[in-house]
Amino acid sequence: MLRRDVAEEGRHTYVRPLPTLGPTLLTGDPEAVAEIVNHPALDAGRGIVGLRAILGSRSLIMSDGEEHTRRKAVVAPSLRGSALDAYPPLFERVTRELAATVPQRFSGHALVHAISLHAIARVMFGEQDPATTREAVHQIDRFLGTFHHPLPLFVQPLQVDLGRWSGWGRALRRKRAVVELCLAHLDRGHGMLAELRSRAPDVPAEELVDEVLALLLFGHDTGAAAMAWALAHLHAHGHAERAAEDEAWLEACLRESMRICPVVPHLTRVVREPVRIGGFDLVEGQRVAPSPWLAHHHPAWWPEPDRFDPARFERPPAPNTWFPFGLGARVCVGRPFVMLQMRVVLGTLLRVLPARLAEGWAPRPVRRLVLVVPDRGVPMERVSAP
Ligand code: HEM
Repeated sequence: MLRRDVAEEGRHTYVRPLPTLGPTLLTGDPEAVAEIVNHPALDAGRGIVGLRAILGSRSLIMSDGEEHTRRKAVVAPSLRGSALDAYPPLFERVTRELAATVPQRFSGHALVHAISLHAIARVMFGEQDPATTREAVHQIDRFLGTFHHPLPLFVQPLQVDLGRWSGWGRALRRKRAVVELCLAHLDRGHGMLAELRSRAPDVPAEELVDEVLALLLFGHDTGAAAMAWALAHLHAHGHAERAAEDEAWLEACLRESMRICPVVPHLTRVVREPVRIGGFDLVEGQRVAPSPWLAHHHPAWWPEPDRFDPARFERPPAPNTWFPFGLGARVCVGRPFVMLQMRVVLGTLLRVLPARLAEGWAPRPVRRLVLVVPDRGVPMERVSAP
């Protein structure tokens, strides 16, 4: 058992049983978080065993140590720096196209979810052929839809292929359809798929496709949820107009939105050998969960933590007090990509879609599987341009 032998007032570190994980050390204390980051006795890849069944054990998110470093080096360059130069016009186009289709009343979350899906399909497969884009949107949506009812992922006896009507059989077929589509486009010279292929000619095609599936799985719902929060906060707290004109302010609003409601509430590490963290003795197999949610609401670092105040980000935050994208060697590989996407999509939406939150609705967090999202899908309505 975990033993608590430090009970210092104000330390945001405690043990709590978490669903499917058992007793887990949760912490939002920057000192304890610093102890955890890159600790050699803690594994990250092992923390997401459920997904191993569908993604296999080959992708970077499932690996640890040198294997993890090697795999991260394959995908990271496609998601940062000059590799991103081509994407702002694509993000803006997709946003304008979909914003033009929304009815008088709409769900802000559904809108940014659709934008993110269409954007990732065009990023991965290129924009040359509308039929390919349509097929990619359809297949990716079906594949990711599997994870909205993920019971079979965590309950091994349910992982039996009983044909296309069984949950597990459906998951495998949907995955196969995306894999086939990716394999067919890997060598065609379009989109991020082709770029990955040219940067990593020695990695077997199926392995590269596993990385792509992981990017889709970890990038799409998280990005959409973060944009839904940002849309809600921008409108709820009266920042929409200023953020539409002032990119630095928009960026501060996005960071503050991710502080107040980080969509990934905690990271998960598995103890490989006995270790002491934050004053707790832990043994092999136990979980440690540095929590952006706890850290971002720590009143010593964020006075009045529940108040939305983008001006907090006029200065960089203290180390280990703000980590919506994780930390250290495991930091989110999609961060530069998704920050750019959020800036362009939200900046465009604020300019082309005059709208307000539905009367009486205010942002409230609810848990949806591993993510924390705004409740009721952010109900909104269009207003006529002044
Ligand atoms: C706002 C949107 C996003 C948020 C809040 C987010 C959050 C995170 C967090 C907290 C982690 C660290 C997990 C850990 O330490 O255990 C992570 C890792 C990861 N993210 Fe993201 N993410 C976002 C968008 C994306 C996108 C767009 C992609 C891909 C295009 C992506 C791909 C990944 C991958 C592959 C990892 C694993 C990195 C590793 O293990 O080294 N994420 N993300």
